[in-house]
Amino acid sequence: MYSGEKSLLRFATTGSVDDGKSTLIGRLLYETESIYYDQFAAIEKASKKMGLREVELAYLLDGLSAEREQGITIDVAYRYFETPKRKFVITDSPGHVQYTRNMVTGASKADCAVILIDARNGVLTQSKRHGFIISLLQIPHLIVAVNKMDLVDYAEDVFSRIVEEYENFSQKLDIHDIVYIPISALNGDNVVIKSRKMRWYEGTTLLHYLENIHVTADRNLVDFRFPVQYVMRPHLDFRGFAGKIVSGTITPGEEIVVLPSGKSSTVKSITTYDGELQEAFCPQSVVLSLNDEVDVSRGDMIVRRKNLPQMENRLEAMICWMDEKPMTMAQSYILKHTTRSVKAHITRINYKVDVDTLHRQPVDEFHLNDIGRIELNTLTPIFFDSYKLNHATGSFILIDPLTNNTVAAGMIRGAARNIEDYTETKTDDGTKSKKSPYSVWRGLNIELTEREKQNAHRAIVLWFTGLSGSGKSTIAATLEKRLFALNCKTALLDGDNVRHGLCSDLGFSALDRKENIRRAGEVAKLFFDHGNIVLCTFISPFKQDRDFVRSLFPEGRFIEIHVRCSIDECRKRDPNELYKKAESGLIRDFTGLTSPYEEPEKPELIIDTENNSVQKCVYELEKFLMSKFIISGKNIS
Ligand code: ADX
Repeated sequence: MYSGEKSLLRFATTGSVDDGKSTLIGRLLYETESIYYDQFAAIEKASKKMGLREVELAYLLDGLSAEREQGITIDVAYRYFETPKRKFVITDSPGHVQYTRNMVTGASKADCAVILIDARNGVLTQSKRHGFIISLLQIPHLIVAVNKMDLVDYAEDVFSRIVEEYENFSQKLDIHDIVYIPISALNGDNVVIKSRKMRWYEGTTLLHYLENIHVTADRNLVDFRFPVQYVMRPHLDFRGFAGKIVSGTITPGEEIVVLPSGKSSTVKSITTYDGELQEAFCPQSVVLSLNDEVDVSRGDMIVRRKNLPQMENRLEAMICWMDEKPMTMAQSYILKHTTRSVKAHITRINYKVDVDTLHRQPVDEFHLNDIGRIELNTLTPIFFDSYKLNHATGSFILIDPLTNNTVAAGMIRGAARNIEDYTETKTDDGTKSKKSPYSVWRGLNIELTEREKQNAHRAIVLWFTGLSGSGKSTIAATLEKRLFALNCKTALLDGDNVRHGLCSDLGFSALDRKENIRRAGEVAKLFFDHGNIVLCTFISPFKQDRDFVRSLFPEGRFIEIHVRCSIDECRKRDPNELYKKAESGLIRDFTGLTSPYEEPEKPELIIDTENNSVQKCVYELEKFLMSKFIISGKNIS
């Protein structure tokens, strides 16, 4: 069958040695008829020879001799199969304790991960460790397959207990979509065919789920990033820039900028092997030509003029150390990021994560398989986005120039903030930071954890964004009263109020709004550092500005809430008659009418105020805070 138009799903399988991973993969290949008849006959024969009752599908996997001898899968292997609906690539990542490195390498490009749990053993440290790595790599979908259900009499309560335990753990992670499927890979229950032995299970089979995951929604189709691989000049009349669109889309005529030179032009044509395109998107490889003669070389990045990545030489990142030789701050490394390689050295180790407990540990160096947070300096700035927003421009590898080994894989969290030492920085709009070189960051007087203990709730920033009139202030104010009644320490930063004092010098141009949000974010940070639940209501129409605020906070502590309401409904509500005034031309740059509103792409929460009452919306928020253990029943005295 011709399968050119079918979508491709990459999924990674992880599990401990005996969880039945090989059997599961074998089962998928077998039932989707991806095994050749003679292969199957050989396995059948081998199984019989070993006195096995069932055909041992695990024998299918190549590279298995090592696994059989050592009882572990040692390297990353890829396997392919397809169904009438979709093509699949399985990345088989090893499950053994020492192989974190392989999992990071193997699973980093996966759309989905499958963690296998042996129903008899329940949730093991291993299953948690894999969950953490999946969250670190930001793999958007996770399937927890509870295997060997046949060995626990297909009992629903065994499955439910495992689900509950894993749910409790996964609350601490950053994974948005988790499903649980009870299976028996050996007997084929719920793998491809729905099990008759587990009628209590109402979900779909594993394959059905894999066939129906939406992957395009996980791709970054907004931020156009085109790292130039090489410059083509086949003849004097044509100069094109070849590369892969790693995120976003582009059409001829669009205004672009070349980084780092900052020279702008417009796209003249987009060419591929099959001819010219009227639109191109990630992950296509194309040749771009521009309408002006602009100097472009390998390692440069072409982006849209109004959507720039960050440009910095001090970065903060999570890394996984992959070399036998420990990391050292004394040595310099080569940082390879998109098509650019720059010299870099690690300037600070923030902490190492104990992958089993998720605790942070202070350490002086990283050893093989260690994961943790560091800061590094690059000789020249790189153009990046945070890994969370863009896997392609947010990741890098470090190479040891002495051995040429890849020694680390990194995920950028953001620009490192100037704390002890001062380097003059340029802000995005080109102005210089006016921070004095003599001011020192004093650090926190009382540790946040101490404050949290006393408050009996966690500190968090709830960032409400939405159109004017969408209900941000009403919802936040009602929620704040509710939290106050629950004895929580709160602070409410409202756009209108902040604009009366702190930001009274600012208007509504894109630049002024940027500054408005920057100040609001910094104030929120101060309140946050003091242990508060900080509620911020700002239209904050630009994604980049909201992302800046996000970058100020630790993972999981900035909750973007899209207060969603159609512009028609907002216009109808028009509590302060601003829409009316804007329509009559009295107010300029009015969001939603004459100034854009960029909807959040992946907010932690969407609150629909058009179809729900204030009470219902506030209830949703409260439920969310409980589910993330920000507040708990303990607050209620
Ligand atoms: S933001 O865009 O910079 O985030 P912010 O939330 O602080 O805006 O302020 C929005 C408030 O300013 C609105 O609630 C409204 O009362 C008022 N306002 C005045 N002019 C405008 C305008 N042109 N666009 C949007 N809001 C405006």
